[in-house]
Amino acid sequence: MSPLREVPDRVSAGSPNPISDMAKYQQMYDYALEDLDRFWLGVAREKITWMKEPSIGLSGSFSEIPDGPLSWFNDGKLNVTESCLDSNLASRGEKIAILWEGDEPDECRRITYNELHGEVCRAANALKELGVSKGDRVIIYMGMVPEAAVAMLACARIGAIHSVVFGGFSAESLRDRVLDCDSRVIITQDEGMRGSRKIPLKDVCDEALEGDTPVQKVLVYRRTGGDVQWDDSRDVWWQDIVPEQSTECAATECDAEDPLFILYTSGSTGMPKGLVHTCGGYITFTSYTHETVFDLREDDVYACMADVGWITGHSYIVYGPLANGATSLMFESIPTYPDAGRYWDMVARHGITIFYTAPTAIRALAAQGNDFVTAHDRSSLRVLGTVGEPINPDAWNWYYDVVGEGRCNIVDTWWQTETGGICITPIAPATPTTGGSATLPIPGIVPLLNDADGNRIDGEGEGLLCLEYPWPGQARTVWGDHPRFVSTYFEHFPGLYFTGDGCKRDSRGYYWITGRVDDVINVSGHRMGTAEFESVLVSHDSVAEAGVVGFPHPIKGSGVYSYIVLQPDETWSMDFADELNLLCRKQIGAHAKIDLFQHVPGLPKTRSGKVMRRILRKVAEGEPDALGDISTLADPSVVDAIKDGAKTL
Ligand code: WTA
Repeated sequence: MSPLREVPDRVSAGSPNPISDMAKYQQMYDYALEDLDRFWLGVAREKITWMKEPSIGLSGSFSEIPDGPLSWFNDGKLNVTESCLDSNLASRGEKIAILWEGDEPDECRRITYNELHGEVCRAANALKELGVSKGDRVIIYMGMVPEAAVAMLACARIGAIHSVVFGGFSAESLRDRVLDCDSRVIITQDEGMRGSRKIPLKDVCDEALEGDTPVQKVLVYRRTGGDVQWDDSRDVWWQDIVPEQSTECAATECDAEDPLFILYTSGSTGMPKGLVHTCGGYITFTSYTHETVFDLREDDVYACMADVGWITGHSYIVYGPLANGATSLMFESIPTYPDAGRYWDMVARHGITIFYTAPTAIRALAAQGNDFVTAHDRSSLRVLGTVGEPINPDAWNWYYDVVGEGRCNIVDTWWQTETGGICITPIAPATPTTGGSATLPIPGIVPLLNDADGNRIDGEGEGLLCLEYPWPGQARTVWGDHPRFVSTYFEHFPGLYFTGDGCKRDSRGYYWITGRVDDVINVSGHRMGTAEFESVLVSHDSVAEAGVVGFPHPIKGSGVYSYIVLQPDETWSMDFADELNLLCRKQIGAHAKIDLFQHVPGLPKTRSGKVMRRILRKVAEGEPDALGDISTLADPSVVDAIKDGAKTL
């Protein structure tokens, strides 16, 4: 069994955490399990500012989800921005809420809680002036500027539902989301900045809105001053209408179960689904997990390197940290600009104490050598976090030994867009860690491993990861499509939430996530559906069929491997592969890139015509001799051709 690293003294000493050692963890875990309602109601009342305190914990159960969403704290009323802003004003008004570092290392903004409160109120008043009211959907398509967080909170202030679309998504993807959630207002910026490159956000928005859409107003934050097209009847500069508003805006009272936001994420099939998170449960869960897992202390400088376009940015840059009155760093650029020492330079300059990033970044930076790290003072660091994909022990050890110099604990946090916040993770001051394991569930979370037939695996073993009981932070439904929510997560194993991940449990009870078992590929921590790629590929006239699977990639975690069957009389070339990649970029987004193409005479199919994806996966994974039973194949010769022509990086 892999050896454990005990928690370094520096991390456990003086921790204010109720879970400051493993005995306390066990006590708290048992206490929560004894009565989940009591536990979560206690957290909700203690940590969250309510307009009316809830008296009810959970209503409903996983078995009843087919009849409608479950709910938490149903009789509570609140506005989440009161927890994130107003509640911090008396004791932390002059504390920095958002510490922004722009694309260039010398571009910094320090926004206090007082200032952030004023800005959010101004933006909320501006949204009202644009006709936004409670329950309306607002799409936010921005880069990593503080105004993106202000825009999210401004929506929340007036009870509008935001849906942030990652700034790398294409016009078509943006348009799909606008139409799906029927948003009448978009907030964007002229251009984004990343590694000295300009990202034409407003241009993409204009393209997305060509033809009929429900969008009436586009609010544009001026970031670079670059030239943009302008439609006077629709477009409004942020700088023209936000600064002139009042810095007071009463927080709209919301039900605990009113939607706070929709976030689209890729699944096994079809168009990405809009997961709906609701106010009371989400803010309770994110603030609790942020404080507990990272062992937040009052003078911490907390830095999460995610983008607000993904769930990590929502939960652990904006909502969780602000609800805890933390100083949250927001980073506009990339880890390799101007060089591969940027993260550690920031750690030194800002005195970062908690640093949270993705394994893909750790692997990419480790590959650049240690000098970029050791050139900068990292003595302020206490807790290091990772999220988004399994971290291989080599990368984990590098993070622990080189970045943290053995003084920090690593929290390898497993969770999903659907879970809203962290579910399986070490608790920084308490949990001994070992590279590659997300260790143990937080109090209130009960993991369960099943085999494919739904038999529960007890003790040591490997299976499909499910969660047994509801928790406040979980997504409630898919926007406009509850049946899809039910069939995706609650039909495989009735009465359980199925995560889509494979997982091992060792003899210590530690969990080791092995990765997705469905047709979702985790590329550099970004979730992509194989079906999304396939539908783009077959939309090209020369492509007859396409099969897309993931394969292990040394930096990205998973790479994208595609099998292409051409129409008769078409010929394959690398130029054509480039053309297909351009198409993916255009239809999905800049992050959608196929790493390997294989031209094949046909896809392996059963006699009933079903593609045997297992074969595609095994060949892409470099295990062509582990195909298992292929006797049901319609044309076994296809398999030989696939094996013979297999590509590697
Ligand atoms: C994967 C990101 C291993 C997993 C917060 C999950 C992880 C998917 C970890 C969700 C981890 C996330 N170890 N795998 N610590 N964290 N994953 O929705 O496959 O973008 O199902 O949420 O990322 O990705 P999502």
